[in-house]
Amino acid sequence: MSELSSEIIDRLVEAASAARERAHAPYSAFAVGAAALDANGDVHVGCNVENASYGLSVCAERNAIAAAVAAGENRFQGLAVVTDMDPPASPCGACRQVLVEFGDFPVILANPAGERVLTRVSDLLPDAFTPESLLER
Ligand code: THU
Repeated sequence: MSELSSEIIDRLVEAASAARERAHAPYSAFAVGAAALDANGDVHVGCNVENASYGLSVCAERNAIAAAVAAGENRFQGLAVVTDMDPPASPCGACRQVLVEFGDFPVILANPAGERVLTRVSDLLPDAFTPESLLER
């Protein structure tokens, strides 16, 4: 299911939970935190950042990936997403497509009650349009 150790999963969920505390979600009141583990073992976090012009809101997952890319890393070993949903919420369609851009890796969906769902990018978005798709033209 997941190639990540339970210690690494704990670390990612903890980082995503801390990022979730910093969510800017005054409109939905739905706070989301995400933490991406890069190929070097460094963790990059993101939270959802909403806007009074609602459509400009950006999800936690995309902000975590953007933080990693801005830090110079685009190879990922895993990503954790924390919400207060029961069962834990799954990434939106737009975020799934953004994750696919960077390969296939484990995704941990978690909530503060300690529930965890282990999945992966290729299960979240099967038959995806990928960077390789463009090369097949
Ligand atoms: N949200 C995320 O951050 N990640 C998701 O995968 C689903 C939705 C945010 C966007 C918005 O700020 C709030 O949750 C409600 O949709």
